[in-house]
Amino acid sequence: MRLFVACLLPEEIRERLSLVQEAAGQVSGLKWVERSNLHVTLKFLGEVREASAGKVERALGFAGAPRAFTLAIRGTGAFPNTRVPRVVWAGICGGQDELASLARSAEAALLPYGFEREKRPFSPHITLARAREGQIASGLSEALAGPADRDFGRFIVEEYCLMRSELLPAGPMYTVLRRYALSG
Ligand code: 2AM
Repeated sequence: MRLFVACLLPEEIRERLSLVQEAAGQVSGLKWVERSNLHVTLKFLGEVREASAGKVERALGFAGAPRAFTLAIRGTGAFPNTRVPRVVWAGICGGQDELASLARSAEAALLPYGFEREKRPFSPHITLARAREGQIASGLSEALAGPADRDFGRFIVEEYCLMRSELLPAGPMYTVLRRYALSG
């Protein structure tokens, strides 16, 4: 099964982000992420054998996670650029250090199970849309001009989750396999 570790977002923040998605909905060539699926990925595990999933689940419980912290969501952009984007994102402007520490803890807990550390630096974001490589997204830079620095709100991260992703024809379906509480 395909697994990842993520922080989920409160409904009101997903709602505000979905307004950006709607406003840019006419931009062609983008696959928008379902509102209910919006999240911050901490660690992507990829395919994990069903027999190993229990170990992964338990290992993450020993991640030595930090205390609960505030995450602030602000701004939008596209990587590598708005003309030919791969990912359209919403940014994080507070709590990045704690989030990075959480991602490092999750990685460290999973190392003994053969999940290697990311080579690229952790770059926390919320993926709003994806595009095929080389796809020109005309109108995206105009659509993102308004929300480029918009405040989408803040919330207290009190837990992180082990998620299962099933790639269905209608799009990915995410299921929470286990929630891990941060300390108060
Ligand atoms: P992204 O939002 O930064 O694209 C579930 O699939 C999550 O895991 C996605 O939100 C995605 O993060 C991340 N992900 C998917 N495939 C990945 C890959 N091959 N490498 C790293 N992260 C991946």
